[in-house]
Amino acid sequence: MRIAVCPGSFDPVTYGHLDIIRRSALLFDKVVVVVMTNASKAPMFTKEERMDLLRRVTSGLSNVEVDSYGGLLAEYTRTRGADVIVKGLRALSDFEYEFQMALTNRKLYPNAETVFLTTTAEHMYLSSSLVKQVAELGGDISGFVPACIEKDILRKVERIDKV
Ligand code: PNS
Repeated sequence: MRIAVCPGSFDPVTYGHLDIIRRSALLFDKVVVVVMTNASKAPMFTKEERMDLLRRVTSGLSNVEVDSYGGLLAEYTRTRGADVIVKGLRALSDFEYEFQMALTNRKLYPNAETVFLTTTAEHMYLSSSLVKQVAELGGDISGFVPACIEKDILRKVERIDKV
């Protein structure tokens, strides 16, 4: 069985992430979406909240599991018996950092390959921080995240009463 790990901070999950998760689920027997800590970002949602949002938007994908881990991705990948790490690439600006992480992860755990899926053109501009910013300033986020988690995001930025 080929298991792929799809790591990220998912703060919160967007249509862009969902697109990568869906396409990974078609390529691998099992996809483990893992909520991790990005040392350079302070998350808005707790790990449990991010996992809950992910579980809801992936509930229709039978071979997708949601988990979280506070340590190294390389270590998590090894303990899950996964041999692939899937990352989404949006633009050239993502490349350098992703390349650096892929090489570091290979050094730490050579048995896993990092595979990059290019985002669909429709989601190229999308990011969790953009979604949070639009929500905080009272904009419409329905084009960025699935409807079933929209309210959770608005509630978090205390915009729920204003919609
Ligand atoms: O969605 P993000 O914020 O771009 O995801 C980055 C993430 C969380 C996958 C990355 O920061 C990560 O792998 N964190 C786990 C800790 C780790 O393994 N760090 C070394 C990476 S080379």
